[in-house]
Amino acid sequence: MSIQSISGLHHIALEVSDLERSAKFYREFIGLKITERHEENEVPAIPVKLMFMRFGQKSHHDFVLVHNPNKKYRAPTEEEASNGPPGFHHIAFECVNRDEWLKMKDKTEELGIDIVRGPVVHSAYHPDGEGSWGENESFYVFDPDGHRLEIFCDMASIDEDGTFVDFSGKRIEEAKVLEV
Ligand SMILES: [Fe+2]
Repeated sequence: MSIQSISGLHHIALEVSDLERSAKFYREFIGLKITERHEENEVPAIPVKLMFMRFGQKSHHDFVLVHNPNKKYRAPTEEEASNGPPGFHHIAFECVNRDEWLKMKDKTEELGIDIVRGPVVHSAYHPDGEGSWGENESFYVFDPDGHRLEIFCDMASIDEDGTFVDFSGKRIEEAKVLEV
């Protein structure tokens, strides 16, 4: 494998119509903690409210909520309410293991959050798989603005020769990446 300059995907900054409502959701359900919050124009080039959030201690922020007070946010159309806002498909949050994923599923019930898809096994190889991709188990919810969120565990990793390896460490010999 060649050495890459980019090491991975880091934070996402998500624009929300109501910062307090979204902060409550992402803290209570996802478990993010607030690192810092800032008002618009504290720095002249940044005319938006920002809430920097994190999971652990590794990074100052893993996730950022953004609200632009100069923007008119509107309620989603019927089509957007079922498919999500334009230009956005989903964000996936990884659980540390399947037990924690099951706890997240229970938490949707406790918090009255609807599961809009799943639970599903994204696999064409697993006996319970629906034929989709990644080998992970997932369910999906909407955040308060209708952003679709995937909550998942056990995604496949990739062996050096490009073969998929499931969460238990077993190679799936018939499953290979397109590019090694
Ligand atoms: Fe996904």
